[in-house]
Amino acid sequence: MAGRRPASMRLCASVALLVVAFSSLEPSSDAYDPLDPNGNITIKWDVMQWTPDGYVAVVSLYNYQQYRHIQAPGWKLGWVWAKKEIIWAMTGGQATEQGDCSKFKSNIPHCCKKDPEVVDLLPGTPYNMQIANCCRGGVLTAWAQDPVNAVASFQVSVGQAGTTNKTVKVPKNFTLKAPGPGYTCGPAKLVKPTKFISPDGRRSTQAHMTWNVTCTYSQFIAQRSPTCCVSLSSFYNDTIVSCPTCSCGCQNNSTAPGSCVEGNSPYLASVVNDPNKNSLAPLVQCTSHMCPIRVHWHVKVNYKEYWRVKITVTNFNYRMNYSQWNLVAQHPNFDNLTTIFSFNYKSLNPYGVINDTAMLWGIKYYNDLLMTAGPDGNVQSELLFRKEPSTFTFQKGWAFPRRVYFNGDNCVMPPPDAYPWLPNASPRQSASALLTSVAVWAALSVLLANA
Ligand SMILES: *[C@@H]1O[C@H](CO)[C@@H](O)[C@H](O)[C@H]1NC(C)=O
Ligand SMILES: *[C@@H]1O[C@H](CO)[C@@H](O)[C@H](O)[C@H]1NC(C)=O
Ligand SMILES: *[C@@H]1O[C@H](CO)[C@@H](O)[C@H](O)[C@H]1NC(C)=O
Ligand SMILES: *[C@@H]1O[C@H](CO)[C@@H](O)[C@H](O)[C@H]1NC(C)=O
Ligand SMILES: *[C@@H]1O[C@H](CO)[C@@H](O)[C@H](O)[C@H]1NC(C)=O
Ligand SMILES: *[C@@H]1O[C@H](CO)[C@@H](O)[C@H](O)[C@H]1NC(C)=O
Ligand SMILES: *[C@@H]1O[C@H](CO)[C@@H](O)[C@H](O)[C@H]1NC(C)=O
Ligand SMILES: *[C@@H]1O[C@H](CO)[C@@H](O)[C@H](O)[C@H]1NC(C)=O
Ligand SMILES: *[C@@H]1O[C@H](CO)[C@@H](O)[C@H](O)[C@H]1NC(C)=O
Ligand SMILES: *[C@@H]1O[C@H](CO)[C@@H](O)[C@H](O)[C@H]1NC(C)=O
Repeated sequence: MAGRRPASMRLCASVALLVVAFSSLEPSSDAYDPLDPNGNITIKWDVMQWTPDGYVAVVSLYNYQQYRHIQAPGWKLGWVWAKKEIIWAMTGGQATEQGDCSKFKSNIPHCCKKDPEVVDLLPGTPYNMQIANCCRGGVLTAWAQDPVNAVASFQVSVGQAGTTNKTVKVPKNFTLKAPGPGYTCGPAKLVKPTKFISPDGRRSTQAHMTWNVTCTYSQFIAQRSPTCCVSLSSFYNDTIVSCPTCSCGCQNNSTAPGSCVEGNSPYLASVVNDPNKNSLAPLVQCTSHMCPIRVHWHVKVNYKEYWRVKITVTNFNYRMNYSQWNLVAQHPNFDNLTTIFSFNYKSLNPYGVINDTAMLWGIKYYNDLLMTAGPDGNVQSELLFRKEPSTFTFQKGWAFPRRVYFNGDNCVMPPPDAYPWLPNASPRQSASALLTSVAVWAALSVLLANA
């Protein structure tokens, strides 16, 4: 940390609390996300029915994360059976491997593996293989963006299991891939059986048995390098502050030729269309930052009572159309956002009192799809904020965001002492004043989080 934030370290050295606050800004190995402290994916198993040798359960995944979604090719849920259970049949999902079912003579199970891994079915699955909330190809939307599609379910018929709530053993070692690493799941906990209310609300039935598993995300576990960066500019200073060099990695011809491609290279068409390439790994355009995504924040106009910002999100990844992308930005003036022109907006208030965090995402069929790198690979919007005379200023970098996330991943910001300043402002002064305000804000959010 000392190597990456020398200026902030110097400032923080004397104040222990602020050091704690700053460390919360760093990607850390624990899953705690200060902007979405309760974010998790909860997996619920409801045992609905006993069978001669086991049970039928409905398994549901609830994506309770405000702004982190799971996009194609979708989630994969795995577990380890506690006994010798097998899966006779599934609806609305399927095990990726059948495993060794050679012991079975007449009825062949769907899956005999000790550690099955289940994926969603694709849209367009025949109706007799569907159940409610299935068959979206493993895509789960973020809770704040679309709670209806943030739930997925499948039904599983389990054999060689217990047939009473005393003999059924809960599966162990749950894993959730999205589809890569990033999530860590806790143990299954027996909870009060789920109650189902009939559509007319006049009768309720209940599961025979229910257990819950909670999985949380950590950017650190998902990937060591960031996936986006922030650049800044303003009407009052010609300087464009680019993303920090090597934000998401460095161009390295010697060890990894082809770690990036030039936009105009003839080689581009051949690598983009190569079907053998692993489509999950980004193929980025060569830039100084090497990020798949750049978020640009431009302070555009100053009016008497308002000020205007333009946000542009640019895709440098040739292998990905980002569907249902979202952006989270933190700025103290979001509590007085007056108009946002072409994104959806929702205020996120993780601590109730500080209303400074906004979630922004595309408008359906207009700009909810961020196209691959190239001329169409960007989306933009303008935001109009009402000034509050007591807090508003163009000095000290106040007009720039404190923190930006793209699709739930923290974006690399330029160092505060590089922010464009107002003519006449001294750099030392503006940098340290901004650091102080960021530090105070960070300390406050940590205090609130621990309260
Ligand atoms: C998971 O998220 C839900 C909804 O935000 C929350 O009620 C629950 O407490 C969370 N679970 C854990 C273990 O954090
Ligand atoms: C099992 O069922 C019995 C009787 O219905 C009930 O009293 C008990 O709480 C249940 N145990 C669990 C773990 O659900
Ligand atoms: C479950 O995970 C733990 C820790 O990763 C490991 O020690 C244990 O062997 C696993 N159990 C099974 C049955 O795979
Ligand atoms: C189990 O998960 C379900 C679905 O998220 C939730 O409604 C229920 O409150 C959870 N139970 C407990 C005890 O956390
Ligand atoms: C390229 O890779 C080599 C070996 O991994 C490393 O020593 C070197 O610093 C890298 N260069 C850049 C510019 O990242
Ligand atoms: C990588 O190779 C390209 C073309 O061969 C060259 O223009 C570029 O400067 C090289 N970059 C590095 C970091 O060596
Ligand atoms: C992105 O979407 C466009 C238009 O739908 C499509 O032609 C293109 O193949 C997609 N690219 C990728 C990498 O999925
Ligand atoms: C936060 O700001 C938004 C937009 O101005 C407003 O709709 C919302 O009520 C505010 N919430 C709180 C807790 O002040
Ligand atoms: C937003 O407006 C309210 C009411 O005018 C004011 O109390 C508050 O301080 C303003 N917030 C900011 C950050 O300007
Ligand atoms: C604009 O800001 C930069 C710092 O990013 C500074 O070096 C430059 O002097 C500023 N320009 C003016 C005209 O103040």
